Amino acid sequence: MMPLEMPVLTSPRVVVRMAEAADVPQVVRYFRDNREHLASSRPLVGEEFHSEGFWHTQVRANVSEFREGKSVRLFLFDRARPERVIGNANFTQVFRSPAHYCTLGYGLDREYEGQGMMREGLESALEYMLGPQNFHRIQANYVPRNERSGGLLRRLGFVIEGYARDYLLLNGRWEDHILTSKTNTEWKATY
Ligand SMILES: CC(C)(COP(=O)(O)OP(=O)(O)OC[C@H]1O[C@@H](n2cnc3c(N)ncnc32)[C@H](O)[C@@H]1OP(=O)(O)O)[C@@H](O)C(=O)NCCC(=O)NCCS
Repeated sequence: MMPLEMPVLTSPRVVVRMAEAADVPQVVRYFRDNREHLASSRPLVGEEFHSEGFWHTQVRANVSEFREGKSVRLFLFDRARPERVIGNANFTQVFRSPAHYCTLGYGLDREYEGQGMMREGLESALEYMLGPQNFHRIQANYVPRNERSGGLLRRLGFVIEGYARDYLLLNGRWEDHILTSKTNTEWKATY
């Protein structure tokens, strides 16, 4: 596949794109402000995760990974306050031929919950990942008590495919997960 430009995806209320060096203070603010809110949906992180130094390195690494086709790590911005990072959506664990799938993980600033902003941002991101990026399947998994996340995935057209015990080590605990995915019925071979 030809290398793609980094995406800038605009919908009525949300802009979805990769972070640049200039966004680092906002990225750090997002993770700091939402430290507890996001804790149960990710592995334990050290103090350096909330530092600008860490994110300057990470932002560069994200661009390299994107160019190498290894991941697409996106942030959501409030279109009404374009500098404001309101969430993130990472497409990782990329497996191209013969699977053409990847795994989605995401989080939203707690101040923006309950407004349909994550749904709007993920709709743009999924259109891009199933369109220009030409994935056949996007996987997304959630812990059974995270009904908010389950509802969001259902609204986005993900279907439940299974149940995995002790699937991920989140916040220091092995957590069962409900496995879901969305497949691309329009997928076309590009070679
Ligand atoms: C999971 C998470 C992203 C869901 O966020 P969210 O804001 O509930 O998701 P949506 O964007 O789909 O918004 C849906 C809500 O907005 C409401 N809403 C308001 N205006 C809306 C609009 N214009 N369009 C759509 N929904 C709207 C819906 O009614 C719904 O509210 P409800 O949950 O009270 O029924 C968020 O809770 C989060 O970041 N949690 C912590 C991290 C996490 O769990 N990550 C996922 C790990 S698998």
